[in-house]
Amino acid sequence: MMPSALENAVYGLVSTPVLHSAVRHGVFARLIEDGPDTVECLAERLGIDQDTLERMLLVMTSLGVVERAAGGKYSVTADAAPFLDRRGPRYLGGFIEHLTLETSGRLGRLDTYLSEGKPATEASPFDDVYRDTESLRAFMRAMWDLSFGMSQELAALAGMAGTTHLVDVGGATGPFAVAALLDAPALRATVFDMPMVGPLIGEDAQAQPVADRLGFVGGDFFTDELPHGDCLAFGYILSDWDDATCVMLLEKAYRACEGPGRVLIMDRLFEDDHSGPLATAAMNLVMHIEMAGKHRTGAEFIALLERAGFADCEVRRAGGEKHLVIGHKR
Ligand SMILES: C[S@@+](CC[C@H](N)C(=O)[O-])C[C@H]1O[C@@H](n2cnc3c(N)ncnc32)[C@H](O)[C@@H]1O
Repeated sequence: MMPSALENAVYGLVSTPVLHSAVRHGVFARLIEDGPDTVECLAERLGIDQDTLERMLLVMTSLGVVERAAGGKYSVTADAAPFLDRRGPRYLGGFIEHLTLETSGRLGRLDTYLSEGKPATEASPFDDVYRDTESLRAFMRAMWDLSFGMSQELAALAGMAGTTHLVDVGGATGPFAVAALLDAPALRATVFDMPMVGPLIGEDAQAQPVADRLGFVGGDFFTDELPHGDCLAFGYILSDWDDATCVMLLEKAYRACEGPGRVLIMDRLFEDDHSGPLATAAMNLVMHIEMAGKHRTGAEFIALLERAGFADCEVRRAGGEKHLVIGHKR
């Protein structure tokens, strides 16, 4: 009998596109928003092929993503529903879309990287991500879906009440900034990101209630200094870059940080011995292929913070994939 982890890896080739097609064709949306349904009714309501849908539902049943009750009605399992409900903060549809449409194509580079090494390039990895408006929007959607739900927990874990002005460096359309503003009514936040991101800020419904406290500064963190604040945040930023670039960015954050202040790194963490978790190991490979960075342990992040001048550093672990590493400027 094949170990189940190996079985999941082998048949992941089928499982991921099935999940993606189900997201795209509204299968989860119908089952979650309208309630359990038979394959016949579901196929008719969605206007899709019944035989294909049934085979997909059987794959998802065996994965534990959907379940079939007596009477043949399918529903999304309680464990999976928060991540597949497009109305909720933990929705992963945009991230699944990004992995399927963008990352999976780039994984074809693995063979060449193995035989020839990763080619040196002067181009920013974001040139490809931001090649046109559609691609920019899709990436921003993926970032929001990936980060907003987790940011609510991270903002609470960071304790934003005593902070006056948060600067979210590479903050995208503000998944962390918005979560922090919702958590701390007296807080003001500025997202610093590439200028083309600016027009998309505040589009997400969750951002509306805090729009008057959320600002945007467009710029390039390689050539520009960062806006000043008493808290600078880096969510899924440092994992895009090598150690030297991370120290350069953290030194900019140190200069921009009004003391006593702090920097928040929010990222995936490897276990100390790099034995997992799987999501971190998988995305560590994706960072190699899509970006110029890697994932790190808590101790490795603390070493980068200390090189940039921050002190009293600590790791605070969250319940999900994204954790918090804090450094202080006294
Ligand atoms: C992986 S996303 C992280 C988004 C968000 N902080 C999060 O936690 O989901 C990286 C962000 O860095 C921004 N970025 C990349 N290069 C940049 C640069 N040179 N200057 C400013 N922002 C940059 C991208 O536009 C993108 O929003």
